[in-house]
Amino acid sequence: MKILVINGPNLNMLGIREPGIYGQQNYAALKQFVEDVCARCGAEVECFQSNHEGAIVDKIQAAYGTVDGIVINPAAYTHTSVAILDALKAVSIPAVEVHLSDVSKREAFRHISYAGMACERTYAGYGFDGYKMAVEYLVEKYG
Ligand code: DQA
Repeated sequence: MKILVINGPNLNMLGIREPGIYGQQNYAALKQFVEDVCARCGAEVECFQSNHEGAIVDKIQAAYGTVDGIVINPAAYTHTSVAILDALKAVSIPAVEVHLSDVSKREAFRHISYAGMACERTYAGYGFDGYKMAVEYLVEKYG
C-alpha cells in the first residue's frame, strides 16, 4: 500500500522549536523514522511538509486515486483549517491524525481539531511513535 505522510507548518523547525514540547530531534530524523517504519511494514511512503495551507490542500487532492492512506499532522492548521478538513473529506482516503504533543492537555485553542473530524484515529502525545501507531493502524486495516 502507498501511504502519504503530511506534516504542516513549523514542523520543519523540529529540534529548534520548543524542544521541551516537540523534542530534540529534527524533521530529517522524523522523516527517516517514518520511512523506516513503512519499510518494516512493507508500505511505500511519501513524506511531504509544507508551511502553506493551500499546498497541503493541493497535496491531498493530488493523492486521490494514487494513495491508499494518509497520516497527517496539520500542526497549527489542525485548529483552524476547514479547507484541510474538506480536502480530506473530498478524497475519502483513510486518514489518521497525529500530534507530537498531547494537544488535549495544552491551551484551549488546541482542543478543537477540524482535520481530525475526517480522520479515523488520532494519536497525540506519543512523539515520533504516534506516526508509527498511525502507519501500523493503516497497514493493519487497509494493507
Ligand atoms: C502539533 C500541535 C499543534 O497544536 C501545533 O500548532 C503544532 C504541532 C503537534 O504535533 O503536537 O505545530 O500538531
